[in-house]
Amino acid sequence: MIEDLESIFVTEQEIRERIEILGREITNTYTDADELTVIAIINGALLFTADLVRHIDMPVRIDCMRVSSYRNDVNPVQEPEIIDMLRLDLEGAHVLIIDDIMDTGHTSRRVIEEIKKLKPASVRFGVLLEKEGRREVKVKPDFVGFQIPDEFVVGYGLDFAERYRQLPCIGVLKPELQNPPTFV
Ligand code: IMP
Ligand code: MG
Repeated sequence: MIEDLESIFVTEQEIRERIEILGREITNTYTDADELTVIAIINGALLFTADLVRHIDMPVRIDCMRVSSYRNDVNPVQEPEIIDMLRLDLEGAHVLIIDDIMDTGHTSRRVIEEIKKLKPASVRFGVLLEKEGRREVKVKPDFVGFQIPDEFVVGYGLDFAERYRQLPCIGVLKPELQNPPTFV
């Protein structure tokens, strides 16, 4: 699997070390709160959320949302659709939304909009990766693992056609493997 990568942007150890720091940052941000509600945007944020919550030192509730961002050459960005909504009551809760990557920002904007309707006490957004210079809407993550260049990456939750999510590091696939027919 790792041999399918052309280059590695973030190693397993770098991810581990950064998540420990992020966990402390998050814990320190919420010193006045009794509890934190973490919402993972799945599938991409599965691995990141699982590791991150183990470094948050306060009571945590976890729930998931499934969002689909349809993209193709004709319609690069359509309105992201929420396919699975969470079950927890968010009224008065401190909410931390977690995603794998912030790219154009459309997914984050849409999710924040939906969460705010549920009257939480606060809403923040954390991402493992942020692509520089790609933002199309005004949204800024509160917690960021790593800034990466504008390249399509896989691993540690991020997929290409639902594959490669289980890689322990993050990198760019070899060009010959970025061909959709390989996976059909
Ligand atoms: P945004 O709405 O453009 O910010 O895109 C966010 C979503 O696009 C992420 O949750 C990912 O699912 C997907 N995405 C964006 N860039 C990449 C990438 O480099 N690799 C894998 N998925 C990506
Ligand atoms: Mg995703």
